[in-house]
Amino acid sequence: MKSIETYKEEFLVYLNEKVKVKEPLNLYEPIHYILQLGGKRLRPVLTLLTCDIFGGNEKLAYDAALAVEVFHNFTLIHDDIMDSAPIRRGKETVHKKWDENTGILSGDAMMILGNQCFESYDAPIFKELMILFNKTALEVCEGQQCDMDFETRNDVTITEYLKMITNKTSVLVAAAMKMGAIIAGASKDEAIKIYNFGLNLGIAFQLQDDYLDTFGDAAVFGKQIGGDILENKKTFLYLKALEMCSSKDAKKLIAIYNATTPNNNKVSEVTSLFVENKIPEVTINEIEKYSNKAFEVLETMSISSVKKEALKDFGLNLMKRTI
Ligand code: IPE
Ligand code: IPE
Ligand code: MG
Ligand code: MG
Ligand code: MG
Repeated sequence: MKSIETYKEEFLVYLNEKVKVKEPLNLYEPIHYILQLGGKRLRPVLTLLTCDIFGGNEKLAYDAALAVEVFHNFTLIHDDIMDSAPIRRGKETVHKKWDENTGILSGDAMMILGNQCFESYDAPIFKELMILFNKTALEVCEGQQCDMDFETRNDVTITEYLKMITNKTSVLVAAAMKMGAIIAGASKDEAIKIYNFGLNLGIAFQLQDDYLDTFGDAAVFGKQIGGDILENKKTFLYLKALEMCSSKDAKKLIAIYNATTPNNNKVSEVTSLFVENKIPEVTINEIEKYSNKAFEVLETMSISSVKKEALKDFGLNLMKRTI
């Protein structure tokens, strides 16, 4: 196994070879822009690492890793339109730098480019990867639709929220890992287990994204702080606050979210309510809870303890992230 940094560097070499600008420039430049904008490259690294963990040839995992990263970046372009987000990875979002129509079409093209990455695989691996990829992509759409539907609902439960983030975020992390397992020829049982590891890690990851959206440092996180609050997102923080705070504070929170007149202090007012009700602490506990669930899955796997440690380290480092 290599270091996470090495997987990332090698993946970036591959990405740079494959992703080139061509005409029409207004279709391909935004694709190049978003893919070169940086990002943690978490998902492709997990595909490569997982392939390696199951004794596969890492070179064979590059196309799947690229598919996952291209697809992820496509969802970010469309997500930023849906969330009216101005900043991504510290730079202008695609629809701000170009316009919404450009973001929509470049995003569509990326979905197709993601699919094309699988053309290098032969049957039966090709079929297995395509089935997993398409199932995952549709689940992401389901999660994204629920995320938007929840903005105008006042009765969202934490159970519904968990289902929503599982779909919009976790399934792709899980699928990225399972693809590595499929390419390496891991047993069905181990592939399911690594998927479940990724699923729990993905939930912890999205909980932390919610946390950082309010409590992160804009310069490091690279996104507008308070964006979720401005969009009336029913995040874990918001739902937990409603559950934990006094009925007076709950009424206040609901009123702020449902107000129809502009409120320049919306982010600071909601953030104060979160802090007063110890929501940051509770959220951090929840992140740990799901990371630990992921680690428990690892314990049931029949890979070496060195490999288990590598996956656990990855999860522990993810929990410490500020970006
Ligand atoms: C952002 O994903 C979208 C979420 C699912 C929270 P990442 O936090 O992995 O974004 P990059 O690719 O590192 O920028
Ligand atoms: C996005 O969730 C999940 C997908 C892009 C599918 P968010 O809307 O929370 O992601 P960020 O915070 O904009 O990266
Ligand atoms: Mg967003
Ligand atoms: Mg979103
Ligand atoms: Mg977010």
